Amino acid sequence: MHILLLGSGGREHALAWALAASPLVDRLSCAPGNPGILELGEAADCDPADLDSVVAFARAAAVDLVVPGPEAPLVAGVVDRLEAAGIRAFGPTAAAARLEGSKSFTRALCAEAGIPCAAGRSFDDVDAAIAYIRAQPAPPVIKADGLAAGKGVTVAATFEAAVDAAEAAFGGRFGAAGRRVVVEERMTGTEASLFAIADGTSVRMLADAQDYKRIGDGDRGPNTGGMGAVSPAPAMTDALRAEAMERILGPAVTAMARRGTPFRGILYAGLMLTDDGPKLVEFNVRFGDPECQALLVRLRSDLVPGLVAAVDGELENFDLRFRAEPSVCVIMAAPGYPEAPVTGSRIRGLGAAQESGPDVHVFQASTARRGERLVAAGGRVLGVTAAGPDVAAARRAAYAAVAAIDWPEAVWRRDIAAA
Ligand code: AMP
Ligand code: GLY
Repeated sequence: MHILLLGSGGREHALAWALAASPLVDRLSCAPGNPGILELGEAADCDPADLDSVVAFARAAAVDLVVPGPEAPLVAGVVDRLEAAGIRAFGPTAAAARLEGSKSFTRALCAEAGIPCAAGRSFDDVDAAIAYIRAQPAPPVIKADGLAAGKGVTVAATFEAAVDAAEAAFGGRFGAAGRRVVVEERMTGTEASLFAIADGTSVRMLADAQDYKRIGDGDRGPNTGGMGAVSPAPAMTDALRAEAMERILGPAVTAMARRGTPFRGILYAGLMLTDDGPKLVEFNVRFGDPECQALLVRLRSDLVPGLVAAVDGELENFDLRFRAEPSVCVIMAAPGYPEAPVTGSRIRGLGAAQESGPDVHVFQASTARRGERLVAAGGRVLGVTAAGPDVAAARRAAYAAVAAIDWPEAVWRRDIAAA
């Protein structure tokens, strides 16, 4: 098979690694890729932000399956465009990708399907939103409705901060994504990320993970795209997994099918484990980054037949198996991340890190080649991932690999997967 992978981050490097390992894949093309990804596949002459170019490349190069990593091309309709051209693509159509692309859409679906989530409402008008905020018993959470590069949510400590966040969103801070604003009750509990694969009617659990969103140890400092992950999520139990499947993932896939917009692809449920059981924080329509890196090193099965079964509506009798052994991913970031990452510093020792343990994988996220040198090219730069017989061993192996990387400028959290 010829597979075209879209994206350029650590998630996509992990996907490229899993795809390249499949005996079914004889050609892997990547757009735009990164230096790590392009060791596993070849650069494709197309741009994921330009859907015409993706369709043209896929057609000309006889691509058998397109695998988009990030949400933007999915929300923009890359799967619809490819399907219309007769090319298989793994992921939701634009209509189904609204589960990530519009928070008010997802709230409406939750109401319709009885999926537990935070109480709240969506608003198109700033004055009505502010009146609602002030009428709440405690400062609520304010969310831009659309995609806002992970920055659209404000968990406000005070009513004033909540009002400010709503005014900023309506004032254009997130562009069109903030023209509608969701105001929600603040839930409390432990968070966990659940990943399932759906084929339009069936949905199967893959695995779960916990993401570390803040920049600093002890969950301090600003939010990031994610500074590390551990899989399985320590707070999850089999009973909670079954409950989440029965009350959240299953009903969502059923409701999407009933609406005539069946969901195919990866359904990622961000959960809050509250005293009243698991509640949905958000859906995403793709793998998480860095959760994907932790998940895929635990995958035992060939990923490709699973993706094809989802595209073809044949997941019902299909199983993607994961090893029981846990895994840990530690993100090494450029100094100044997340506000203003300083790029250009030289990175050495990836080979030594890779060889520091039997189950170690150094995934590249934002790297670039400058002649012979590998340099930091963005905020989150490396995802150093290891599996082990237990969390402590996986964690030791991941941090030993981090220590083997010669990159003095790097910043990383010391407490990923710490008990
Ligand atoms: P999101 O961008 O939707 O992933 O939200 C980012 C983070 O905001 C989540 O991971 C939660 O930590 C937090 N969050 C979002 N909605 C709520 C809520 N209703 N209650 C408490 N925390 C929330
Ligand atoms: N790590 C969170 C996300 O990928 O959305």
